[in-house]
Amino acid sequence: MQKTILITGGAGFIGSHVARRFVRNYPQYHIVNLDKLTYAGNLENLSDIENEPNYSFIKGDIADQAFIEELFSRQSYDGVIHLAAESHVDRSISGPMEFIKANITGTVNLLNAFRKHSEGRCDGKLFYHISTDEVYGSLGNEGLFTEETAYDPRSPYSASKASADHMVRAWYHTYGIPVVISNCSNNYGPNQFPEKLIPLAINNIRTNKPVPVYGKGENVRDWLYVEDHAAAIDLIFHNGAVGETYNVGGNNEWRNIDLIKLLCRIMDRKLDREPGTSAKLITFVKDRAGHDMRYAIDNSKISGELGWNPSVSFEEGLDRTVSWYLENERWLGGVLSGDYKSYYSKQYLER
Ligand code: NAD
Ligand code: DAU
Repeated sequence: MQKTILITGGAGFIGSHVARRFVRNYPQYHIVNLDKLTYAGNLENLSDIENEPNYSFIKGDIADQAFIEELFSRQSYDGVIHLAAESHVDRSISGPMEFIKANITGTVNLLNAFRKHSEGRCDGKLFYHISTDEVYGSLGNEGLFTEETAYDPRSPYSASKASADHMVRAWYHTYGIPVVISNCSNNYGPNQFPEKLIPLAINNIRTNKPVPVYGKGENVRDWLYVEDHAAAIDLIFHNGAVGETYNVGGNNEWRNIDLIKLLCRIMDRKLDREPGTSAKLITFVKDRAGHDMRYAIDNSKISGELGWNPSVSFEEGLDRTVSWYLENERWLGGVLSGDYKSYYSKQYLER
């Protein structure tokens, strides 16, 4: 079936994997990638598909109401897969307003435009909002986040994503917009901006810089390989039930310190270093304010109803990820310049 699909945030980490998957797997769809190209957006992530006939790119800001209104008045979209967001918790702590604009105002602008230009003809259309497990807050040693877990966001980032989720549900209940939401755990893989734990650690180990571990390194995250998330998004977009929420996770919990030690061992091997060399770079630093202790997802709904399960083991995924960063120094050099350098010195060197 012919469709025109708007992917927001397609030049970012997860968005670029989703855009590539849709362009390659669905030649009958036209994929429009809308991205502001913030420090986190990089069109190089999509250089392999940029000339495909079923792909186009539009630069723009979802927080700009007039621009979004104009975009939807020019073209009708059968589906929106909404990933554009400010996504880094530490940046939300030092500068929350960008998160309010992009994540809340931006989402509402898209919902309004989608509603207005559907004019009640929503059959077969879908607004798919990509969200995070952080909306559920922080777990203790026991338990998992389910779709019924009460929202309890604790950082400006997670509060802005929780707010966006509420807006999406409000537009569904109040205006009848067909929506679906998924809340995913921590992603890792190629093309992730090196401000997030895994690519930051890989880059610092590679360049013999200290690897900063917040607090005692005891916080736990549930890691999922990005291609598995893209596969879940594909499945939910096509087979998810309208109005429903799906949690997506890796069944793969790691304490930060154990993960970093594992990464050090992999890097020693890949860089032909003496075993134990990279681990010497581990440096405990001041904890993140309001640092959520543990996230972990119960996958039983998406697994039982849609048949999705993570397919890439952590060993395999980390191996692929480390190899990708070591083979793509030019990409790293490009994204490490400019904004990131000044952010890095504020975050780690001036405190
Ligand atoms: P990212 O920061 O790598 O990419 C975000 C993209 O959005 C960038 O290309 C950026 O240019 C674009 N963008 C930001 N503000 C914009 C605006 N105002 N207008 C248009 N484009 C804008 O983020 P990511 O890690 O790929 O995350 C993508 C989505 O998935 C986000 O909504 C995030 O909340 C969610 N998510 C991420 C993870 C994760 O572990 N990374 C896990 C669960 C959910
Ligand atoms: O759970 C999903 C979320 O995962 C997404 O919604 C967010 O967009 C994504 O950024 C991620 O959030 P986290 O805060 O969990 O990811 P981050 O990579 O920033 O940190 C992972 C853990 O590592 C966290 O406990 C903080 C810690 N950490 C992070 C950095 C950057 C360190 O110890 N040192 C660091 O330098």
